[in-house]
Amino acid sequence: MQIGTWNIEENTFLKDKVEQNGSRFLIGNGYMGYRGTLEEFGKDELVALNMAGLFDKNGDLWRESVNAPNPFCVKVSANGEVLSALTASIGEHRQTLDIQNGIHSRKTVFNASGAKVTVEAERFLSMKRENLAAIKFSVSSDTDTNVHVSTCVDTDIWNINGEHFTVLEQYSEADVNVLKLQTNENKTPICVYEYIVGAENETEVALKADEKFEFVKLCGIYWGDGCEGSLDAFKAIISEDYATLLAEHKAVWADIWANSDVRIDGDEEAQFAIRYSIYHLSSIVPRNTDKCSIPARGLSGQVYKGAAFWDTEMFMMPFFSFTDTTLCKNLAKYRINTIEGAKRKAKEFGFEGAFYAWESQESGDDACTLFNITDVFTNRPMRTHFKDKQIHISADAVYGLWEYCTVSGDYSLLFEGGLEMMYQCLLFFYSFAVYKPLKSRYEILDVVGPDEYHERVDNNAFTNKMAAYVAAAFDKALDYVKNNDPAFFAAFAEKHDLSVFDGFVDKLYIPQPNENGIIEQFDGYFRLEDISLAALKERIIIPNEYLGGGNGLATTTRILKQADVLMMLNVFRSQYSDEIKKANWAYYEPYTEHGSSLSACAYGIVAAGIGMPDWAYKYFMKTATVDLTGDTKQYLGSLYIGGTHPAANGGSWNAAVFGFGGVSYTDDALDVSPKLPAHWDKLSFKLLWKGVRLTVCATHNGTTITADKPTNGICVTVNKEKYIF
Ligand code: BGC
Repeated sequence: MQIGTWNIEENTFLKDKVEQNGSRFLIGNGYMGYRGTLEEFGKDELVALNMAGLFDKNGDLWRESVNAPNPFCVKVSANGEVLSALTASIGEHRQTLDIQNGIHSRKTVFNASGAKVTVEAERFLSMKRENLAAIKFSVSSDTDTNVHVSTCVDTDIWNINGEHFTVLEQYSEADVNVLKLQTNENKTPICVYEYIVGAENETEVALKADEKFEFVKLCGIYWGDGCEGSLDAFKAIISEDYATLLAEHKAVWADIWANSDVRIDGDEEAQFAIRYSIYHLSSIVPRNTDKCSIPARGLSGQVYKGAAFWDTEMFMMPFFSFTDTTLCKNLAKYRINTIEGAKRKAKEFGFEGAFYAWESQESGDDACTLFNITDVFTNRPMRTHFKDKQIHISADAVYGLWEYCTVSGDYSLLFEGGLEMMYQCLLFFYSFAVYKPLKSRYEILDVVGPDEYHERVDNNAFTNKMAAYVAAAFDKALDYVKNNDPAFFAAFAEKHDLSVFDGFVDKLYIPQPNENGIIEQFDGYFRLEDISLAALKERIIIPNEYLGGGNGLATTTRILKQADVLMMLNVFRSQYSDEIKKANWAYYEPYTEHGSSLSACAYGIVAAGIGMPDWAYKYFMKTATVDLTGDTKQYLGSLYIGGTHPAANGGSWNAAVFGFGGVSYTDDALDVSPKLPAHWDKLSFKLLWKGVRLTVCATHNGTTITADKPTNGICVTVNKEKYIF
């Protein structure tokens, strides 16, 4: 694979890269994502038009996001020979993703019965009109050739857990082919429109040498309420020509980059990797709705059921809160909108308040199952405790909301269900915590922390610290409401007995550093077997065997799946000294498998903060290149978990900006203390802070910050020295 300034390119066709390239060359517009497959491919090549926020359940199988019919299906044969990259002889091949403009293209020269037939295609999912999928397709040949081109909206598509829709009607109206479907579980309507300019669904062309046959296809995909009036809406779209539609799509991307680009001078590889991360985040974030969040595998397919995890709040939302307030607000609102599901879950497990879904879909009910992994030895579902014990999810949801408020300075969500949501989450932690009278403290017992290999542990440092965060954030939110809308506060206080939490946070046990400065990940962690990762891996019998769960190999050892204490030190980086960070980094790093793509960024950010640039750089690059190298686990037990890694994409922005950019903040002050790797000449990035867009430009000689407009005296410090804008 070649990496250019703004594109990636594959110059040879390799069958065994089809799955990986499907994720690498993904395009998306937040409403839908289309895998980077070739036009002649089908379900065996994992072609997918994955819809954001639309879910369906087939029988007893896992409920998952819906892949809509494939609008980009085009098949070509020349002189009777099928031209597929999978089977035909290929002279040249090029697959390109232009990340500046969100355009996928391919050019393949086939050797077909003595002729060299060139197939070219360019496609995009419009950023301007979220329902539009557009493709321009051409065939040319060096000799006179009879070509057959067939295009359709393919309904025979890839699904992981069974089929999800039924075709209701198919007809043509004027020049538009109409396909009406509905999902099987909830009978949600889906409408797909196809409009072809320059060809029919089946076209025979007697192609003259060096002549080009070209057509454009515009498809409209709508679902749910969006179906109403959608044919007229689609007709308005197709009244524009392809060039205009492409130009307006590119204009939106230009705005996205203007507000979010990160520039790294002196390191082309890192420069591309950070932009590639931003490209993915921007392609998959819902743009016009607060009814769905970002799935853990983005819009690259149905892996992880199309559900949102803590990945969104803890890894991706910082990027959005500092670059696009509207998008970030929608993400925060999504958790408010799904609170009823969280309340149902709390009740189901015997608690009060809101226990958010570990795997959240549209209603907030948990898509995670109690048996979420298949054991490779027995081929039976294995009991896991992600759903019922990974309680930090409720704190992560609050974190997303409160950090949004802090960074944007927009507290309006508190009055739109946000304060209530924070209250319900705090109530959940309060009802979950156990008061130990002899120790005079609350403890949080029987949980799973970020390190999923150790289940049902007590006093996981990250979880306890996040619970305390919820209490502190709720207090601040209450103060804000009290000061800004006393009537709202009074009504809230009347509805809820706020005194119930008195003493909770003061008496909540937060694991502290021991005499060596190490914070124990959970009670008893230090007593576990001290083994190296390499030695543990030698014990593996079957390559994909799960290391956690009831009796996985890691459970009795100190080997952890992903950053846990380090995640805590990253999130609360201003509260711990460099000595503590150094000690814990050095202690936990050798034990960390980085078996999740969420792990490396925390190590990178903490390393940058404590002056370990080489390590910071290594982990930054690991995070930022995950979807380029494809160097991640593809299976958990026998469960396929491939696709893109938006949390790592977010993590790479966090590592660049919070790590090397040295950005940290309190409620009302932002500090920028850059620590560039030695070989970087310059790092510059944008920060939207309290509604003012700042441009930070850091070199080894100093830092400049400019604001896009006169400010209300916001406070920014550089290396802790105060500047008032
Ligand atoms: C990680 C979780 C993460 C999930 C989805 C798991 O492998 O352990 O922390 O939320 O993947 O990305």
